[in-house]
Amino acid sequence: MALVKPVPFKIPPAIITGTGSVRENLLAEIRGFKAKNILIVSDSVIAGAGYLDELRGCLAGPDLNLETYTDIEPEPAIENLEAALAWCRGKSFEAVIGLGGGSVIDSAKMLSALLAHGGAVRDYVGGPKAFEKRGAPTVMIPTTSGTGAEVTVNVVFKDKAAKLKRVAVSPFLMPDLAIIDPLYTLTVPPAVTAATGMDALTHALEAYTAIKATPMTDLFAEDAIRRISRSLRTAVTCGHNIEARLDMSLGSLFGGIANAGASVGAVHALSYPLCGEYNLSHGAGNALLMPYVAEVNMMGNIPKFARVAELMGEPVRGLSQRQAAALSVNALRQLSLDIEIPLHMSQFGVTEEVLPRWAKTVMETQGRLMSNNPRVLTEKDVLGIYKAAL
Ligand SMILES: [Fe+2]
Repeated sequence: MALVKPVPFKIPPAIITGTGSVRENLLAEIRGFKAKNILIVSDSVIAGAGYLDELRGCLAGPDLNLETYTDIEPEPAIENLEAALAWCRGKSFEAVIGLGGGSVIDSAKMLSALLAHGGAVRDYVGGPKAFEKRGAPTVMIPTTSGTGAEVTVNVVFKDKAAKLKRVAVSPFLMPDLAIIDPLYTLTVPPAVTAATGMDALTHALEAYTAIKATPMTDLFAEDAIRRISRSLRTAVTCGHNIEARLDMSLGSLFGGIANAGASVGAVHALSYPLCGEYNLSHGAGNALLMPYVAEVNMMGNIPKFARVAELMGEPVRGLSQRQAAALSVNALRQLSLDIEIPLHMSQFGVTEEVLPRWAKTVMETQGRLMSNNPRVLTEKDVLGIYKAAL
């Protein structure tokens, strides 16, 4: 085992899980913050699905003033957050609720912090400034099962001009409360369920096999892999199945916690150029690349990959660890096939000419993730993975 500097294990001070947990707990928690003027951040899809009305119903009361902002775009650009910030200025919110997928949650995290500091989004996202204090208390209610943004200190926004994603990381972005309620995920369409679910699985798998993995992050990663593997197919094909949705909600939460504690590796690193330049979501990009990266990474940690195969339900009894580890790659590939995730980048129009440039970019810009990968990868190795995935 490599000697690595221990990473402090940080999660929100409160996490509530369970079917109906928003209705049962949200009002009391908001009262606990002594907040009366409340911002709810969401998007038009969530509003259209009726979840926003449901949430507002949970907070009905004469003493609470609820204001709703629903113009957060999918995979939002810095300008989109800037518009939200302009709308919020001068309104002195005492709590911020994020109701949505990762885009909404990241936006809500940032709005709370930005309103407490002043300044522009670009000062903090890819800019020179760092947050110095917490903003108004934040409550995150995910409506997809994938990003785990409700338990992390990171946010990601698109920089349209530079054609890349920019990140801000601050301990002050950690939400105060995450409420994980599968009732808010029942109408996620199959393709989104598939892509976001595979993102959650990527978090769990990459954190589990990461150089920075610890026994504590392993607990969360293992349970996430087991839950997602047994329930993602049902969640995709029978979205109203509440047991499958609960498994996916918890799998996403636990994968997010594992990611927050151990971080991710080459799958995420390699998917950034792909998703930045072609029209596929973060989850679909990760899902596509994951079996190819696992095939190469497996040799870096045979026991962990053998355990992944077991957690994914592969018949590992009587097999050597090496044989079992190889089954993890089959399991990942089969899961993608079963939920109709494309397995080749050429299906999105990617051609071979771009691959050397991408491999170079990965080595130059993704050092943090690449150094956490279970196998040391060279530029040639990365190019080989991209070629296999073409
Ligand atoms: Fe991810």
